[in-house]
Amino acid sequence: MEFPGWVTDLRPLILLSMSLYHFCATLFEIIVLERSPSKALKLADVRLRSFARLWTAKGEDMSIEMPGPLTELLQQCHGTVLDIGPGSGEILPRFDASKISAMYGAEPAEALHPGLIKNARKHGFGNKYHALLCGGEPESLIPALAKSGILSSSGTGGTAENGIFDEICCVRVLCGVPHPQQTIKGLYTLLKPGGRMVICEHVVNPWRTEGSIGARIAQLVYTLMGWPFFMGGCELQRHTEIWLKEAAEPQGWDKFDLQYVGPTYAIPFVVGELRKKL
Ligand SMILES: C[S@@+](CC[C@H](N)C(=O)[O-])C[C@H]1O[C@@H](n2cnc3c(N)ncnc32)[C@H](O)[C@@H]1O
Repeated sequence: MEFPGWVTDLRPLILLSMSLYHFCATLFEIIVLERSPSKALKLADVRLRSFARLWTAKGEDMSIEMPGPLTELLQQCHGTVLDIGPGSGEILPRFDASKISAMYGAEPAEALHPGLIKNARKHGFGNKYHALLCGGEPESLIPALAKSGILSSSGTGGTAENGIFDEICCVRVLCGVPHPQQTIKGLYTLLKPGGRMVICEHVVNPWRTEGSIGARIAQLVYTLMGWPFFMGGCELQRHTEIWLKEAAEPQGWDKFDLQYVGPTYAIPFVVGELRKKL
């Protein structure tokens, strides 16, 4: 069933209300149940924990339908794969575990790790899955990769400069990473020559071209209503596709194939694949 544009633009309100509920519930748990009011002052931790609470409750439902050709793109992943922000592994069934020799999931929310490990086992990854407690930003990711043993300064395990991953997947995560341009550039560096990035990210509404001015205004309004605060740092107005393109400069990408899915919505996605030059 096709909804009118303004109805679609109002749907994020439901998610925002749920995130507000989980934020209050997290504060209640910390202050009343755990009796650790000082922990409530660490707002960054509270926000991460509250988003993890929301994702644990709703992540599975929100992963039943994924935009565009994402499933086909993930099914082709092979070799050594890095998944940024895998959450509790809701998209793991979309990969073909038999094609993957090792998979690294960089997930900073500790509360999501038990679900992530359980889903990795359930979907056939066994010992090939390595859950890293870190973010996708270089200052967090690089030490975690070094600790895991995949990244070595001697060159035997590969170095960040040479690239170590055949595939890097960013699914619904670049909206929330800190300093996204630097983070995306860092991920580009970690990709082997000829390696592929799989992208499924919501972005700023392209209202000047194929988007909608109403949806662009809705993005502004939701941001002012506290979307990034209550949604674990998720920003609605990121120019991710431009930053992805810039990450490969000056040599550029061998292939840069991103398409908009729902360009007239308040949460439009870009989905596709990028291939690094050999
Ligand atoms: C919307 S969920 C998406 C989960 C998964 N990629 C999926 O699509 O099912 C966003 C995930 O990114 C994680 N995240 C938040 N900040 C991050 C960061 N700086 N680096 C990597 N992941 C991050 C969150 O903890 C959460 O698990």
